[in-house]
Amino acid sequence: MSELSAELAALFPPGAVAAQLHGVAQSGHLSTDEIQAVSHCSEKRIRDFAAGRLCARRALKELGIEGFSLLPAKDRQPVWPAGITGSITHTDGYSAAVAIRQGSVRSVGLDSEMIAAVHEQLWPRICAPAELERLRGSCGARRGERAAVTFAAKEAFYKSQFALTGEWIGFEDVVVELQDESGGGGTFVVVPQRPLLLQRHEPQQLTGRFRRHGEFVSAGIALC
Ligand SMILES: CC(C)(COP(=O)(O)OP(=O)(O)OC[C@H]1O[C@@H](n2cnc3c(N)ncnc32)[C@H](O)[C@@H]1OP(=O)(O)O)[C@@H](O)C(=O)NCCC(=O)NCCS
Repeated sequence: MSELSAELAALFPPGAVAAQLHGVAQSGHLSTDEIQAVSHCSEKRIRDFAAGRLCARRALKELGIEGFSLLPAKDRQPVWPAGITGSITHTDGYSAAVAIRQGSVRSVGLDSEMIAAVHEQLWPRICAPAELERLRGSCGARRGERAAVTFAAKEAFYKSQFALTGEWIGFEDVVVELQDESGGGGTFVVVPQRPLLLQRHEPQQLTGRFRRHGEFVSAGIALC
């Protein structure tokens, strides 16, 4: 069963609604069109899709929208109802979604990762050399968590910017700087390492928030 999460919503500007689900979801709640969209997929993929949609449905209900088929576009991003933007994530045993009315916020990105799954062999794929150096210099107990936050922050940023530009961005194209770390959360700044389409017309500070919850970390960013 999905539940609203004020902690996840707090990763985003006021007005955002977030829902999360621990465990797996069955596909029974999906609409005919949604089932059709994943009918060719593996059972695991259908379960992930169903869990993400369940969270999105809960968040949309809070915004007064019910019975909406949240279909994937050809590029896989969900097609939100008019006037709403949102983001979905799923990882082993955990799924979440955020939705917000478009106004000052043009798009959002949410990503959750299981800390233990972001093992050290993955770091060189996710991190730029400067990030790797910072990670390896940080205290042992926090290192894995910081690596997972870096990963989640990049994925969240990717989703948020893709909704506006459709641009593919590699892990080496941005560096994530973690700031204000305290009580299992903090903020992050995304520093582009090359000119991004997103910033061509409207340069903006790319700042998001993260938090640790149990064995997971979640990162959220809103673009104005
Ligand atoms: C799209 C991507 C970010 C998804 O991340 P993931 O770890 O596979 O999976 P998550 O569970 O966190 O997110 C999946 C959800 O993201 C959403 N999504 C997929 N593609 C998306 C896109 N292009 N833009 C925005 N959202 C997208 C979907 O809702 C999807 O769930 P669904 O298919 O069930 O609807 C990743 O697969 C990808 O293509 N990355 C590109 C490279 C990259 O990450 N660069 C980072 C440097 S900034």
